[in-house]
Amino acid sequence: MKIVVAADHGGFELKELVKRSLVEVGCEIVDVGCFSNDSVDYPDFAEKAVSLILNDECKMGILICGTGIGMSIAANRYKSIRAANCSNVFMARMSREHNNANVLCLGARCLDADIAVEMVRIWLDTPFLGGRHQRRIAKFSD
Ligand code: RB5
Repeated sequence: MKIVVAADHGGFELKELVKRSLVEVGCEIVDVGCFSNDSVDYPDFAEKAVSLILNDECKMGILICGTGIGMSIAANRYKSIRAANCSNVFMARMSREHNNANVLCLGARCLDADIAVEMVRIWLDTPFLGGRHQRRIAKFSD
């Protein structure tokens, strides 16, 4: 399964760490930037990542900014995107089980890096439960 990762300058370093940890476990990653600590605008990188999910090139995405807030607001403007800004492992798991989140947003300035890496692994490993949760999702998303 191919995963797209993206960040702004606030999330660049955590993106690099997350990427390395995913490559270690054999994930195929598409990195759409940014590629340095230079200041950029998070909506541009949310759009690049989301477009790969919408055209089926990638199944899921991880978007990182300073707080995760900007990335999640930007990503959720696109139909079929369910972006969850999570701040702990429980939220990451629930965003898959109940919300079928296809984008995980992380706040690099709010999270311990090791916990963020753990959240990503759990998020990718947790299946959607379907059933009543599918009925709820169908009320706002494909
Ligand atoms: C950039 O300084 C910061 O605003 C951005 O990374 C993010 O936190 C926005 O939501």
